[in-house]
Amino acid sequence: MKLDFDAKELRVYEKEEIFKIHPLWIRERSTEKGEVDQNSFQRLYDPEKIKPDLQIKNAQLLADNKMHVEFSDNHSATYCLDKLITEITRSNVLPPKIYWDKNDAELKKFSFAYGANESRQLFEILKFYHQYGYVVVEDLPAKDGEVIKFAEKIGFIRETNFGKLFNVRSQKQPNDLAYTSIELESHTDNPYRKPVPSIQFLFCIENSCKGGDSTVVDGFKVAEDLKKENPQAFNILVNTLINYKFEDNDAILEKTGKIIKLSARGELKQIKYSNRLDFVFYDEPKVLEEFYAAKRVMHQMINSDKYILQFHLQPGNLLIMNNYRTLHGRRSYNTSEGSRWLQGLYIDHDSAESKYKLLSKEVE
Ligand SMILES: [Fe+2]
Repeated sequence: MKLDFDAKELRVYEKEEIFKIHPLWIRERSTEKGEVDQNSFQRLYDPEKIKPDLQIKNAQLLADNKMHVEFSDNHSATYCLDKLITEITRSNVLPPKIYWDKNDAELKKFSFAYGANESRQLFEILKFYHQYGYVVVEDLPAKDGEVIKFAEKIGFIRETNFGKLFNVRSQKQPNDLAYTSIELESHTDNPYRKPVPSIQFLFCIENSCKGGDSTVVDGFKVAEDLKKENPQAFNILVNTLINYKFEDNDAILEKTGKIIKLSARGELKQIKYSNRLDFVFYDEPKVLEEFYAAKRVMHQMINSDKYILQFHLQPGNLLIMNNYRTLHGRRSYNTSEGSRWLQGLYIDHDSAESKYKLLSKEVE
């Protein structure tokens, strides 16, 4: 690693790369005493108070991959270069995503036992979850409310109009198709909410009916393949606005969005596919003709054997899914031959990410 600088730019040479750093960018990352609270590491000043013409006066490498920088406002600070480069390159501290289809996927279940060694167990569960967008936990006590106890080990529960948890079993007058015994094709949950629920927990208490297998699909793998195989369809699904809507006697929920959402950098951000609840906005038939064709291509993919991982949840099994990436569904079942009772709830992405980061410090 090498450094040089002039008044308005600090340059860090790392392997083949040169990172050019603005004086204010590096100045506002100072963690010296008086600059940030030493417990929270939050700034003790407004960075806008620093003069905009701030200059770099000196910069030198120190031992242990550290760097010392002096500024024109008489402040000087020491920085850890590895940490800075991680931030500059946006290297994620979460495990990298591994896209999968049915051929790559093996149904790995993670046993969980309360008590000793919980951190290591939760770490392995959350690692797999962040890589694959879903995870199955087994050996939990198959009882009412257990899912809340387990979920609260990871994060805060997001209550909705379905309650803190929802019971997925066949009902006589259901307000959602989840509460029937019909087959549900691959979908993401609740695209009509603002914000859309991040992570779904689905916990099996009883599942002795014939049928009722669960299915999961990696929506990011499907989107990636769609982009390669049919870029026109991909672009249509990235750009077409849809109104997602839910309505019952107690709630009218609507959200506008797209089936495939990309980040500003063009990365896959979110899949919203729920074909019982989506209403594409009015447009001319010529435009909609193309949209409907594109949507059918994706529909065929997310419901094909190539992508579907199918399994029977056993009592005590918990399926955790990233609702922004993974689609899920279930096969139809027959309640005359047994019983099927699942309980579900939602938590937010930030709690699962935070828990993983904390656990990785603890166990690694
Ligand atoms: Fe669902």
